[in-house]
Amino acid sequence: MTRRPRRNRKNEAVRAMMRETRLTADNLVYPMFIVDGENQKQEISSLQGNYRWSVDLLVKEVEECMKLGLRNFMFFPKVEEELKDEIGSYSYNPDNFYLNAFRTLKKHFPEINIITDVALDPYSSDGHDGIVKDGKIVNDETNVVLAKMAVEQARAGADIIGPSDMMDGRIEAIRNALDEEGFEDVSIMSYTAKYASAFYGPFRDALDSAPKESSKDIPKDKKTYQMDPANKREALLEADLDYMEGADFMMVKPATFYLDIIHMLKSNYDIPIAAYNVSGEIAMLKAACEKGWLDYNTAMPEMLLSIKRAGADVIISYLAKDYCEMVK
Ligand code: PBG
Repeated sequence: MTRRPRRNRKNEAVRAMMRETRLTADNLVYPMFIVDGENQKQEISSLQGNYRWSVDLLVKEVEECMKLGLRNFMFFPKVEEELKDEIGSYSYNPDNFYLNAFRTLKKHFPEINIITDVALDPYSSDGHDGIVKDGKIVNDETNVVLAKMAVEQARAGADIIGPSDMMDGRIEAIRNALDEEGFEDVSIMSYTAKYASAFYGPFRDALDSAPKESSKDIPKDKKTYQMDPANKREALLEADLDYMEGADFMMVKPATFYLDIIHMLKSNYDIPIAAYNVSGEIAMLKAACEKGWLDYNTAMPEMLLSIKRAGADVIISYLAKDYCEMVK
């Protein structure tokens, strides 16, 4: 045998020398949940190690994360039921607690990137990402609200707008609205290929944002706007549109069961690719580790590394803090 691949695996120094993929804090975005009020740190039972924070404690937590090298954060609001309505109007109330939290964070940490969430579900009494009329999610009327929401986020100091709603044409609507208000430097990270996945459950628990079961006029799932998990080529259509409409980043969501989609977009486009390692992926990992069936310290970094290896430049993960603590 003249070719023995094992020679290049014989010790850690040689393995490190030829390592093809490296994952650092710079690649990671840490998603966090915000609640109104003060002195709140509420653990999310289906997403252990992640919390809903009031802004006073959030500031301290962000500071901890920054010591670990994290600089990119994505925020989601947990809105009280009584503030929700059919068009999600609280989302563009310039004085809402979510936008006020951006202002506080930017005052303390001007150097961080604030990545937002644009969709109606945290604010909608129907629990959908768009406006529901006669049992349907109406596209173009929703885009008007999404654009307003994005502009208020930019005004509050957001660096990157994150439309997670999957309405058609929303990137163009948001880009135009931002530019008209003078926010041409604010970026858009589009949820380009977002699938109607079963793996968003813990997130919906965190925000109490699942489609409401109360009326039979409200669709029970998001299949008329999120993509069918069976489809791959359709992601190219979504990507073409987002590219033309001006997205700065394209996201694939979920991540680990969709590595083929990540790889395909990375091979076909010249803008950065992001991947969202969603709540259900984490829940699976953590539950198995808790049972003692998997080892967290090796399985967790392998999960993140695989997403990077598939082609993601940016990984949004609830594991970001743990990972940075581990490699420190
Ligand atoms: C909704 C939204 C969802 C997630 C992010 N934004 C859930 C959904 O589409 O129902 C899920 C993230 C996760 O599971 O971690 N706009």
